[in-house]
Amino acid sequence: MSLYDEVGGTAGVKAAVAVFYNRVTADDSLAPWFEGVDLSRLKAHQRAFLSAALGGPELFAGRDLEHAHAGLNITPEAFESVVQHLATALHDLGASDEAVARVRERVEALRDRVVALQPTD
Ligand code: HEM
Repeated sequence: MSLYDEVGGTAGVKAAVAVFYNRVTADDSLAPWFEGVDLSRLKAHQRAFLSAALGGPELFAGRDLEHAHAGLNITPEAFESVVQHLATALHDLGASDEAVARVRERVEALRDRVVALQPTD
């Protein structure tokens, strides 16, 4: 079974987006990135994130992530927080520990394309 199916297919993913979205927007530490981004773009972002995480069939067009996040200065901590909210959302919706671990792996693989490069000195 694909990861996508494992978290409940289309209905499960919709529920996960809603819960994930609520968690991210309620997190004050993430407000510097998401405050002022309009609602429909924010929802599109959560869908893109989840699609990348799940590798759903047609959901993620694989847009250039470096380009999308260039200049946003996304910190490792912010990245962690977003991943953690996703893991918690999936867990709360009944995804197995194994499925959540696989989701984390998939998202981790994209970290270097999203998190800003830090100066080395
Ligand atoms: C694997 C993780 C991520 C994926 C797959 C992802 C995906 C995307 C995509 C596809 C876009 C372009 C949206 C568009 O122009 O239509 C985007 C933009 C953006 N992302 Fe991410 N993102 C990830 C992680 C993050 C994180 C951790 C943050 C902040 C903490 C973040 C904040 C933003 C912001 C603020 C934008 C611009 C929003 C806008 O104005 O539309 N992203 N992301």
